[in-house]
Amino acid sequence: MILLAVETSCDETSAAVIRNGRVLSNVVSSQIKLHAEYGGVVPELATREHLRNWQPVTEAALRAAAVTVKELDAVAATQGPGLPNALMIGFKAAQAMAFALRKPFVGVNHHEAHLYSPWICGNPPAADFGSFQPNVSLIVSGGHTMLVHVRAELEHVVLGSTLDDAAGECFDKVAKLIGLPYPGGPEMDRLAVEGNAKAFDFPRPLLREANDDFSFAGLKTSVRYFLQKNPALLEDGKALRDLCASVQAAIVETLVTKTMRAARRLNVKCVTASGGVTCNRSLRAGLEKECGRAGLSLRLAERSLCTDNAAMIGVLAERKLLKGVSATSPDAEIEPGWSIG
Ligand code: KG4
Ligand code: ZN
Repeated sequence: MILLAVETSCDETSAAVIRNGRVLSNVVSSQIKLHAEYGGVVPELATREHLRNWQPVTEAALRAAAVTVKELDAVAATQGPGLPNALMIGFKAAQAMAFALRKPFVGVNHHEAHLYSPWICGNPPAADFGSFQPNVSLIVSGGHTMLVHVRAELEHVVLGSTLDDAAGECFDKVAKLIGLPYPGGPEMDRLAVEGNAKAFDFPRPLLREANDDFSFAGLKTSVRYFLQKNPALLEDGKALRDLCASVQAAIVETLVTKTMRAARRLNVKCVTASGGVTCNRSLRAGLEKECGRAGLSLRLAERSLCTDNAAMIGVLAERKLLKGVSATSPDAEIEPGWSIG
């Protein structure tokens, strides 16, 4: 099967071509530079960029895969969740393409695509569902933080999610407080490497609670108060690095501890993680250490597939068609608030 997938849920316009589980191409046009000027994603600008880019990006993906439109067996796109107008561009374009070609169309849940993205690996990347195991999965992105119990392929239940800010949002907001450019997560990761994670003690939110939920808004607020009391810190490169390392340690310890606790309780043998924050070196190392200690296998999404991309949309769409999940109606609409729970 040859399938084209399109992703436009937030600030990346992406198209990918998948053939029998293999990612033939995965073109991602990021809008980070555009939004950086405003310190966050501006929905109107994102929509305009998707409108401008979806066609050249799709053509580039087809060209890179050496596949013509007529050879496609199916078309997929992110249906939700995401920014409504941004979603609309890729979803309606892909839906129209499938309709014109008289081929099946699959509307994909963006979080479900992140959830199964750790099962895409190798160079060039390919689906590896042959080694699938039931798992506890951590999805950590700019918009969402959740723990999911994946009981079997395409069978999952959400255990908990963030009550307020997502982990990526916390990284980005703290980074903004200390004057780092958007998105702050990668910048904090870079500075934290040279800092002392024990220098400052920040709260580990909901760590002691017996549930699988997260809350990162309080952590961000405690950093704000800390900076109000210690303004000179912003001028001190060493202290700034220590601050990045200390905040990162609070986020990572919370994510790792809660993930491992859920894995133990549900008696799974495997842990997976995906989404933009899974690029974070300390989070990857923390999960590796704890899974090693507990004798669990760990599947981390490949770095290039952690942030938003159409390859994960396409691989999941193809898997669904192969597993007999029915195609999405040609007149279906976007689902901006679609939850996988
Ligand atoms: O999955 P993603 O591309 O977009 C959403 O669906 O939200 O995730 C983007 C988020 C941003 O908040 C960004 O700061 C964060 O992932 N991020 C990181 C790192 N790389 C990206 N956070 C911490 N450390 C990183 N290395
Ligand atoms: Zn995402």
